[in-house]
Amino acid sequence: MSILWDRDVTAGDRYGFVLGTGLVRVDSAAALTRALSADPGEELVVVGPDIDIDAACGLTEGLRIDHASVGVILLRRRLDVTVLGQALRAGVREVVAHDDLTALAEAVTRSRELSFKLRGASGSVARAEGKVVTVFSAKGGVGKTTFSTNLGAYLASVGHRTLVVDLDLEFGDVGISLQMLPQATMVDVVKMSGHLDEQGLASAVTKHSSGLEAVCAPAEPGEAERIPAATVAELIRVARQVYDFVIIDTPPAFTEHVLTAFDLSDALVLIATLDIPALKNLRLTLDTLDLLGSPREIRHIVLNRSDAKVGLRAEDVTSSIKQDIAVMVPSSTDVPASINRGVAIVLDEPRHPVSLALKQLADDYLRHVQTDAPAPTAHTRGRLLPWGGRR
Ligand SMILES: Nc1ncnc2c1ncn2[C@@H]1O[C@H](COP(=O)(O)OP(=O)(O)OP(=O)(O)O)[C@@H](O)[C@H]1O
Ligand SMILES: [Mg+2]
Repeated sequence: MSILWDRDVTAGDRYGFVLGTGLVRVDSAAALTRALSADPGEELVVVGPDIDIDAACGLTEGLRIDHASVGVILLRRRLDVTVLGQALRAGVREVVAHDDLTALAEAVTRSRELSFKLRGASGSVARAEGKVVTVFSAKGGVGKTTFSTNLGAYLASVGHRTLVVDLDLEFGDVGISLQMLPQATMVDVVKMSGHLDEQGLASAVTKHSSGLEAVCAPAEPGEAERIPAATVAELIRVARQVYDFVIIDTPPAFTEHVLTAFDLSDALVLIATLDIPALKNLRLTLDTLDLLGSPREIRHIVLNRSDAKVGLRAEDVTSSIKQDIAVMVPSSTDVPASINRGVAIVLDEPRHPVSLALKQLADDYLRHVQTDAPAPTAHTRGRLLPWGGRR
C-alpha cells in the first residue's frame, strides 16, 4: 500500500503500475499526513519530482518519529550529490530518477521489505481493521446485489457496523434494492479524493433502517467515468478503519475499480449458478485471480439457485472449479418479491431457506474471522452434500 505525493493529477497513472492498485495520490503535506493517520498500516510514501526538496525532507524527518516503519522514496529529475546528501540525512530511504521505473520498482521492493522487518521488530502494527468482503461474478444477474445487501443487512442487524459500497458504478442498484434515498453518492467521495477521512465518508453514506450504511452508485451512468480507481482504494482504506465490515457489490466485469477492490479484500464471495456460461465465467475468474496472485483461501464460492433442475448439478461445478462450494442458496420467487418491497429477505423472513443459507455464509465467515481459522465449507461442516466428499 502506498501514497504518492505529487501535484500532477496524471502521476498516479504514470507510477500506478509500479506502486500497485492500492495507490493513493495526495497533493499536499497536510493531505499526506491525514492519509497516513487514516491508515496506520501504510508503509510507503513516494514523493514526486516537483515537490520541493526542503518540504519533502521536513516531512520525512517528522515521519521518523511518528511513523518509523514508513519508507520515503524521493523522485528527482536530476540526481546530484547535494540532493542525495540532504535526502539521506533527513531519512529518505532512496532517491530515484523520476523516469526510471525499473529503479523505482526495485527501491519499492527494498523499502517494503525493510518496513516489514521494522514492523515485526517493534510489533507496532496495532490495527483493528474491518474486513473487506467483495461479492463478484463475471456474469450479470446471478445475485451479487442480493447477496451484498442481505449480507450487509444481516451483519448490521447482529451488531456489526457495516458499510456496503456499490461499485456497480453505471447501473448500481444497492440503493433501490433497499429503498434507500441517497443524499450523496460515490461522486461526492471523488470530491474528497486525497483527503477523505471518517467525517468525509460519513457525509457520503446513506443509512438503512437495519443499521446498514451504504455508499451508493452515482444516479447517472455517465458519472461512472469520473470516479478514479484510486478514489475507490482510498474509500476502502478509510472505511475499514471505521466499519467492522465493508461489503463491496460489483458489476459483472473486471473493471479497474473491481481489481482495486480485489486487491484490498479479505474475502471474495464468488457467485455461481447452474448454467454453462456462469460456470465458464467462474473458471475464468478463478484463473484471473490466480494470475493476480490473489490467495485461494480467501475465496468463498456460493451456488445461487442451487436447486434449479437444468441438467447441470452442483457436483459438476465443484469438479470443474476444483473447489468446494461454501454455501448453496435455493431459488425462490420470494427473493425478487422482497426486492420489490425494498426489504432484505434475511431480515424480513429470517426462517426462509434463502435467509438461512445467507446467514450460514455470514456466520461461517464471522466464526472464521473470530478464530482466524479456515472457514468451513459445506463439506467440512459435515453436512451431507449431494456430490459426496470431494475437497
Ligand atoms: N436465490 C434466488 N432465487 C430467486 N431469485 C433470485 C435469487 N437470487 C437472486 N434472484 C433474483 O435475480 C435477479 C438478479 O439478482 P441481482 O440483482 O442480485 O443480481 P446481480 O448479479 O447483482 O445482477 P447485475 O449483474 O445486473 O448487477 C433479481 O431479480 C433477484 O431478485
Ligand atoms: Mg447487481
